[in-house]
Amino acid sequence: MSAVVDRFGGGVALVTGAGSGLGAAMAGHLAARGVHVVVTDVDGARAAGVATACVSAGGSAEAHVLDVADGHRVDAFFASVWAEHGEVDLVVANAGIESGDRVADTTPEQWRRVFAVNTDGAFHCARSSVQRMTGQERPGVLALVASVGSVTTLPYQSAYIASKQAVLGLAQCLDLELRAAEASVQVSALLPSWVRTRIFDDVRRGAEPVDALARTTFARMATSIQEQGMDPEEAASLLLEAVARGDFWCFTDPERAAQLFEERARTLRELRPPERSGWLGSATA
Ligand SMILES: NC(=O)c1ccc[n+]([C@@H]2O[C@H](COP(=O)([O-])OP(=O)(O)OC[C@H]3O[C@@H](n4cnc5c(N)ncnc54)[C@H](O)[C@@H]3O)[C@@H](O)[C@H]2O)c1
Repeated sequence: MSAVVDRFGGGVALVTGAGSGLGAAMAGHLAARGVHVVVTDVDGARAAGVATACVSAGGSAEAHVLDVADGHRVDAFFASVWAEHGEVDLVVANAGIESGDRVADTTPEQWRRVFAVNTDGAFHCARSSVQRMTGQERPGVLALVASVGSVTTLPYQSAYIASKQAVLGLAQCLDLELRAAEASVQVSALLPSWVRTRIFDDVRRGAEPVDALARTTFARMATSIQEQGMDPEEAASLLLEAVARGDFWCFTDPERAAQLFEERARTLRELRPPERSGWLGSATA
């Protein structure tokens, strides 16, 4: 039996960045299990396509344009969703973008955009959900999509990795805060490993990395995610079942994540200099 059906069936979920990849797969997974899904994305056509697919498959969904980088818009939109539906059982702060250049070649605007979407976006969703979920009759769940990158270090990925380390920090601190207040709001940190999505394609359309080695590494990662990445539907199922069970830590590959946690713990315990994480295997130059 699906924990998602038991926990969220008949309820309402809001997913950001749900027009593609993991977000689209999570929207589909939830809709197929009797959850009404508020599908949001900065790209309205993508959001509309996913909501239509959910409805065509027999589910219930609505599509909206939402840029998670805009905190005022997020708050106004969340207010309208709560006003429309009364209570929201699950918010998945999933929207995220990649980066792939040397620090020296990253412009302040590129750095800011990665943080605006990945980190500020998670904060905006957290802030706007938690205040509304507190006091709900049905306890709400806030799922923040971090990454196994939140505990790893890689060259040419500084903006993405730093932004995702911040998302994990946000999730951990918020969880403590809510438990201290005995609030009936669950926080879950989602740490996917490699999932087959378009995340590298979108950022590459913006700008190819300037440095040759960064460009080669980025191209290998873009190829590797397609060749070795998990199917998004399988990843969505693993992550959402863990969320529905009440887990704080949610993974697509728990064994690999445990190795990375051990690697990270060893580095900190033994005060080693930063090491290139092995999580991408042959994908890195
Ligand atoms: N694919 C992986 O291997 C992987 C691994 C770890 C973590 N993640 C995380 O999973 C999440 C989803 O990534 P994905 O791989 O499905 O990528 P994706 O590119 O397929 O989907 C991301 C979606 O977010 C949307 N988006 C971008 N900027 C936005 C904004 N400002 N506001 C709202 N929506 C916005 C895009 O339009 C896109 O539809 C991200 O947070 C990513 O960091 C992915």
